[in-house]
Amino acid sequence: MKTAFITGITGQDGSYLAELLLDKGYTVHGLIRRASTFNTDRIDHLYRDFHDPEARVYLHYGDLSVSGQLTDLLHGIKPDEIYHLGAQSHVRVSFDMPEYTGDITGLGTLRLLEAIRRTGIKTRFYQASSSEMFGAAPPPQSERTPFQPQSPYAAAKVYAYYIVKNYREAYNLFACNGILFNHESPRRGETFVTRKITRAATRIMLGMQEKLYLGNMEAKRDWGFAGDYVEAQWLMLQQDSPDDFVIALGETHSVREFVEKVFQKLDMDYKEHVEIDPKYFRPTEVDVLLGDSSKARKILGWNPKVSFDRLVDMMIKADMELAKKEKTLLDAGHNINGRIA
Ligand code: NAP
Ligand code: GDD
Repeated sequence: MKTAFITGITGQDGSYLAELLLDKGYTVHGLIRRASTFNTDRIDHLYRDFHDPEARVYLHYGDLSVSGQLTDLLHGIKPDEIYHLGAQSHVRVSFDMPEYTGDITGLGTLRLLEAIRRTGIKTRFYQASSSEMFGAAPPPQSERTPFQPQSPYAAAKVYAYYIVKNYREAYNLFACNGILFNHESPRRGETFVTRKITRAATRIMLGMQEKLYLGNMEAKRDWGFAGDYVEAQWLMLQQDSPDDFVIALGETHSVREFVEKVFQKLDMDYKEHVEIDPKYFRPTEVDVLLGDSSKARKILGWNPKVSFDRLVDMMIKADMELAKKEKTLLDAGHNINGRIA
């Protein structure tokens, strides 16, 4: 039985990856942050009390800013595979918190690599690199496209990408960069644009919200399903030698197209509900992302199963159920969390 260590296990990808690894018989250790509220919603269904002999998920408090503790954890767990998904992952927020983003999203990767080197454990390392690193580079983007980062987040990910390559070459580590294009799901954080749209549209439909405020609707993204993308992460660590791979569906759509599609599927006209708020524009934008993942499809045999259209349906369905639950509570006189992303 293999053992994996996941940073970012409480995030969208971490939860899907934990499910995948448990299905494959792994024992899964995850890094979680202490918070004053519960932050394990996405993995609660996987967790069993550690006194239970059947338990295969173990959670450890820690933070990517603290290197000594990461070293101790890796020394104790000695995982066969490390999936480093933890990051300050929001591009717009990275302009508000550039130093923090550099520390966690950039140096966090170095801290883990150093922990591997210092402990001398034999392990395989996955780095969650991002299509955001391509930035202003014209589409389609592949492993050969030079990076032109357009945000503090992207610059931090570029640092992490190169430090992974350097440790692979300098210390012969089995370390891979998965350069993943945008991937979404019903578990997507509510401040990312797709989820913000499906949450708002379903609430609008049930009369619980009037307007949806967005920023740049002309930006284009190559959106796929997170469940398909974590499979690629696992595949990268099962190869004979470490390498870097672009993972993408290979089609691009604008934010406007996404909104239009969602509202159309709910028989509504987005123009009656959507307004632009400059607050959501970024100082520098990534205009078009469109991935060429032919290398991963050929070498890893990676084959995404969920189309763009099915992804949209999946997200609408889940958010409609959530909105209905909220409405039931509201109608019964209860307070619900009325935050708007
Ligand atoms: P996400 O939902 O935002 O999850 C981020 C995870 O990182 C959460 O578990 C979060 O913990 C954890 N984290 C944040 N700061 C931390 C810190 N200081 N110490 C320890 N853990 C910390 O992100 P995601 O969408 O699953 O993405 C996973 C990774 O892939 C990220 O590195 C992201 O940058 C990268 N990526 C994502 C995409 C995409 O489209 N989703 C594409 C390319 C690359 P809390 O739950 O406590 O906040
Ligand atoms: N979040 C957000 N909110 N984005 C908006 C909004 C809005 O109200 N209105 C327009 N957008 C546009 C953004 O300007 C961007 O061009 C696009 O929608 C997508 O934004 P996000 O969903 O926030 O994702 P992202 O592309 O910036 O970053 C995501 O994908 C990267 C991979 O390319 C994140 O998951 C990153 O962590 C990931 O690396």
